[in-house]
Amino acid sequence: MDIHIFFLLLLSLFQQAPSFSSSAISDHHILEQGSSLSVEKQNDVLVSPNGVFSAGFSSVGDNAFCFAIRFMKSSVPTIVWMANRDQPVNGKASKLSLLRNGNLILLDAGRIPLWSSETTSPISVYLQLRDNGNLVLHNIKNESLWESFNSSIDTVRVCDPNSC
Ligand SMILES: *[C@@H]1O[C@H](CO)[C@@H](O)[C@H](O)[C@H]1NC(C)=O
Ligand SMILES: *[C@@H]1O[C@H](CO)[C@@H](O)[C@H](O)[C@H]1NC(C)=O
Repeated sequence: MDIHIFFLLLLSLFQQAPSFSSSAISDHHILEQGSSLSVEKQNDVLVSPNGVFSAGFSSVGDNAFCFAIRFMKSSVPTIVWMANRDQPVNGKASKLSLLRNGNLILLDAGRIPLWSSETTSPISVYLQLRDNGNLVLHNIKNESLWESFNSSIDTVRVCDPNSC
């Protein structure tokens, strides 16, 4: 490679690095309509702005995953809430999708909805994980349509990666 091109590439990498990492972080604070979090992508997690909580697929057994909110500031990540505790999904093709109509659904590999927030909205909605660990589906007026804190299926237990 031409040495000048090499240095140009190096320079552009350094110039892009700060903006790239900050946008990558903010992208993962919010899930937009028409977007999904995939069980197959490790980076498909929502992180609270303070970095204390994350929401994504957690392995709960052999090829079994639950969509969960985890408290990250402990020696072992602690699961504080699960969407589908009794019906884990397959490690392939499963996803959490925020549909264009405002419904948040958890789809199994066979595209069977296992869980849903049962919401609809005529205006734009976003899914956001707040600093207190509350996963909130809110519209552009910041009115909340669904919150994990209000959802009855929450659970508190320590998640050991080997036995969780
Ligand atoms: C939206 O509402 C939440 C909860 O009431 C609040 O903490 C947050 O600051 C609000 N966000 C904006 C952008 O107004
Ligand atoms: C969740 O519960 C709080 C407290 O009871 C309430 O103020 C809020 O409106 C509820 N949110 C939803 C989306 O039902």
